[in-house]
Amino acid sequence: MKRLAIIGSGDLGEMICYHAKNDNHFEIVGFYDDFSDTDSIVSGHKILGKIDKIENDFNNDVFDFIIVGIGYKFMEFRKNIFEKYHQKIPFANVIHSSSYIDNSTILGEGIFILPGCTVDKKVKIGNNVLLNTAVVIAHDSEIKDHCFISPAANIAGKTIIGSCCIIGINATIIDNLIIAPYTQIAGGAVVINTISESGLYAGIPAKFKRTLN
Ligand SMILES: CC(C)(COP(=O)(O)OP(=O)(O)OC[C@H]1O[C@@H](n2cnc3c(N)ncnc32)[C@H](O)[C@@H]1OP(=O)(O)O)[C@@H](O)C(=O)NCCC(=O)NCCS
Repeated sequence: MKRLAIIGSGDLGEMICYHAKNDNHFEIVGFYDDFSDTDSIVSGHKILGKIDKIENDFNNDVFDFIIVGIGYKFMEFRKNIFEKYHQKIPFANVIHSSSYIDNSTILGEGIFILPGCTVDKKVKIGNNVLLNTAVVIAHDSEIKDHCFISPAANIAGKTIIGSCCIIGINATIIDNLIIAPYTQIAGGAVVINTISESGLYAGIPAKFKRTLN
């Protein structure tokens, strides 16, 4: 059985641990976390050490794959940590078996797909993307690297979501749009126009609210 280590032991790290163990048949080796004590236990697994220990442990055959368990509150860190180890250490895709991922989907690395998602024809999902429960991505759309798509978000066909976007719970993005990188869409928003300026957008139809912090 392949051995998985998770970067980050907060809520997202624990979610990955839960599904990877119970559905994907990875053996969980433990977590790397700069803010938790080494050797303490999270979800029944050890904190293996700080993040800067990862490369050394991989070279010493502690694990086979790694995945980023850092969520939408730390998007820049989420991106940087993936890029630091990409192409040095293999990243796992943890894709829940209850999700439908069409065979034509092009998948990157380090992707976490939770239960009940639907990914239709010729969708492209970049590296380090998270699709939370019951997300729908319709045909020919693209989700670029590091995006965090919250539960029950719906993205219609031929729409491109730029890198490092956060799409809120139950948001709807209609077809043929392009969403700028580093855009956040609030929960329940309905996006009906292309977004060229990054920032927070909310409401129906979604309007620019403010720049991101
Ligand atoms: C978008 C969000 C993060 C903004 O939170 P915030 O920083 O506290 O919001 P702000 O107070 O800066 O709001 C800015 C404006 O957007 C509005 N707004 C924020 N969220 C909104 C929403 N979901 N729908 C409609 N308007 C919203 C606010 O009312 C405010 O409007 P105003 O400037 O006209 O008064 C939050 O409201 C949200 O929707 N979160 C979704 C969470 C989610 O998807 N969680 C799933 C994780 S798995």
